[in-house]
Amino acid sequence: MSILVTGGAGYIGSHAAVELLKTGYDIVIVDNLSNSNFESINRVKELTGKEFPFYKCDLLDRDELNTIFENHNFEAVMHFAGLKAVGESVEIPLMYYHNNITGTINLCDLMAKHDVKKLVFSSSATVYGHPDSVPIDESFPLSATNPYGRTKLMIEDILRDLYISDSTWRIALLRYFNPIGAHESGRIGENPNGIPNNLMPYITQVAIGKREKLSVFGNDYETHDGTGVRDFIHVIDLVKGHLKALKFLDKNKGIETFNLGTGTGYSVMDLINAFSTINSKAIPYQFVDRRPGDIAICYANPTKAEKVLGWRAEKDLNEMCKDSWKWQTDNPNGYEQKVLVQS
Ligand code: NAD
Ligand code: WQD
Repeated sequence: MSILVTGGAGYIGSHAAVELLKTGYDIVIVDNLSNSNFESINRVKELTGKEFPFYKCDLLDRDELNTIFENHNFEAVMHFAGLKAVGESVEIPLMYYHNNITGTINLCDLMAKHDVKKLVFSSSATVYGHPDSVPIDESFPLSATNPYGRTKLMIEDILRDLYISDSTWRIALLRYFNPIGAHESGRIGENPNGIPNNLMPYITQVAIGKREKLSVFGNDYETHDGTGVRDFIHVIDLVKGHLKALKFLDKNKGIETFNLGTGTGYSVMDLINAFSTINSKAIPYQFVDRRPGDIAICYANPTKAEKVLGWRAEKDLNEMCKDSWKWQTDNPNGYEQKVLVQS
């Protein structure tokens, strides 16, 4: 029996793969490499000393995915595969709806066909839209402010309907807050294509000299220093939550939702200052206008995950900053190998 990890070549999926292998699970990774690099698969093997099958397969290719289900005996699926860039989702919404929703429907349909009914799904704190207050718990009203967020909301609804139709499903909807950091080895990490959308990869690219300075989007929010506040969570803590969720599903039928966050909010300036101090690296920045769609403050109430899963985040902001920087310095071009041309 093995765990199917969709999107396992990506940022969070590759860290989950390492954690699963380290814990003794067998895994199979499916990824179309649309936002990742095969090198991450090599690194997961290198870090764990374990082999596993990898399929470059698109979840939209139902026939190929079906063949993978026929060739393996899966006990559960961790479903990370999806497109995740908020701005891009506004520009090309149909691609986001098609990829994220149709991909998930194909996956669930094949899971049902092959009687694999245990699913851990990557949802997002984005499903809370503009929350009225913080900390945010799982019972807060749901809404979305962009097509990406709507795909997460729609998939959550689809999975709830799926459970209503067949109560033998076991589903965990994990709502991530702001994952940052990297494996402490510096061998795997976040590898954004082009200009990073998210704060931490932008900071590390400024620190290494790839970008001139960070634009801080707004310093007039009602927060302790005027900049946006988020619940940054170390990716290793995050993936440990997935293993706890898997164990929970072994014992419990049903569909359950869990916030995966630390419960503490730090501002953009807090993160810049922590990064600069722990890594002795100044981050040039300038204040610019707010980014449309951003909210002032977002952090989790993670009590449910602690009570029900026995999980809580352990790593602090300094570790997140240290590990993000190690990944960036050890891999200045991410997974792209620099080709040395001799003259
Ligand atoms: P990522 O882009 O690094 O990883 C996603 C992987 O899925 C990529 O390797 C990509 O190639 C693959 N993929 C996309 N569409 C596919 C398809 N149709 N078929 C097969 N593979 C496909 O992103 P990540 O940061 O690792 O995020 C993983 C999941 O967590 C995503 O679903 C994302 O929406 C969700 N999430 C991420 C964050 C975050 O801040 N990183 C926050 C909340 C939720
Ligand atoms: C964090 C803070 C920005 C970049 C996004 C998605 C969300 C989830 C996580 C997937 C904000 C500020 C950022 C920059 C800045 N992803 N910032 N300069 O917006 O909280 O959440 O990623 O589900 O759905 O929306 O994360 O890292 O983009 O921004 O000042 O160059 O950093 O304004 O306050 P966000 P982020």
